[in-house]
Amino acid sequence: MLLKTLASFAVLASAALAAPPKGAAYDHVFVIFLENTDYSLAYSDSNFQALLSQGVLLDNYHGLTHPSQPNYIAAIAGDYFDVSSDSSTEFDSTYKTVVDLIEAKQLTWKGYMEDIPSACYTGTSSKSLYYRKHDPFVSFDLISKNMTRCISHVVPATQLQTDLNNGSLPNYSFYTPNIKNDGHDTTVAYASQWLTGFLTPLLSNPNFLKNTLVVVTFDEADDYSDETNHILTLLLGDAVSSLKGTTDDTYYTHYSLISTVTNNWGLGNLGRNDVGQLANVFSFVANATGYQNVAVPNPPPLNG
Ligand SMILES: *[C@@H]1O[C@H](CO)[C@@H](O)[C@H](O)[C@H]1NC(C)=O
Ligand SMILES: *[C@@H]1O[C@H](CO)[C@@H](O)[C@H](O)[C@H]1NC(C)=O
Ligand SMILES: *[C@@H]1O[C@H](CO)[C@@H](O)[C@H](O)[C@H]1NC(C)=O
Ligand SMILES: *[C@@H]1O[C@H](CO)[C@@H](O)[C@H](O)[C@H]1NC(C)=O
Repeated sequence: MLLKTLASFAVLASAALAAPPKGAAYDHVFVIFLENTDYSLAYSDSNFQALLSQGVLLDNYHGLTHPSQPNYIAAIAGDYFDVSSDSSTEFDSTYKTVVDLIEAKQLTWKGYMEDIPSACYTGTSSKSLYYRKHDPFVSFDLISKNMTRCISHVVPATQLQTDLNNGSLPNYSFYTPNIKNDGHDTTVAYASQWLTGFLTPLLSNPNFLKNTLVVVTFDEADDYSDETNHILTLLLGDAVSSLKGTTDDTYYTHYSLISTVTNNWGLGNLGRNDVGQLANVFSFVANATGYQNVAVPNPPPLNG
């Protein structure tokens, strides 16, 4: 009887502390969001051209709506829930995001926010170069109302260097550059120059390149009349080193940022638009897991 009880305790304990699942195609993903740029403008930029030669161009990738904030919300939540402005928004504790699926399987994550006044800052700041509309995490009560969780996960971007030095790059990182570096208050040339300077040391840092996929994307096209909301997205890192200089023309949207994570680690899904035709999985991951992407001949207008 005692032995039986001990044995069932052991089973419970090992279930609770189960090792994280193995990633099918990568072990770390690092998402960087830039701002408001049409595909053609980014493509013609010389710094982007140089970066493209080191990675994979996704030339059929689309933002979901306008303005900025709902695109960021959608990229972690699988829906933008009719958010149609950049004003502070809040989702109660029934709203899960991709990071809840990540943590449930003992995988790690962080939101790195340039110039956030302090870890888990939830106010709106007009003085700093940090803008809450580009930080989707603090709009979800499951994160923002859980102080221990929030302070350790939604952190100033300066924490990245500490984490790298410590060999603790999270499995999922979401990096939001400040309002100048992301091109919002500047130009695509400014953003691409910042990006090159930011990525160059990382792309030769062994503490960063640990079977890592870097995804550089833009929140939305600048041209609101473009129904396809066509934006440039670029994959870099050692997880795609054998695909350098290639182009993937599969139809993707920001929902693919969730499905490509959940598919890689077998995390299930949020049951929103992270499932379905707007959520094709980046094909090098789909190929590794056997996931079947779909053709999307008639996409809905994405410039709402
Ligand atoms: C990330 O996930 C992999 C499995 O893909 C795991 O082996 C590794 O320890 C994780 N890294 C961190 C920093 O948690
Ligand atoms: C806060 O978040 C952690 C996970 O990071 C979780 O284990 C804990 O249960 C949460 N606390 C509350 C009160 O929801
Ligand atoms: C270094 O990483 C480990 C986990 O890998 C963590 O427990 C520890 O707190 C980190 N230290 C610092 C200074 O971030
Ligand atoms: C995925 O597999 C298909 C079919 O074998 C192949 O044509 C394609 O090049 C692969 N894509 C990548 C990115 O590996």
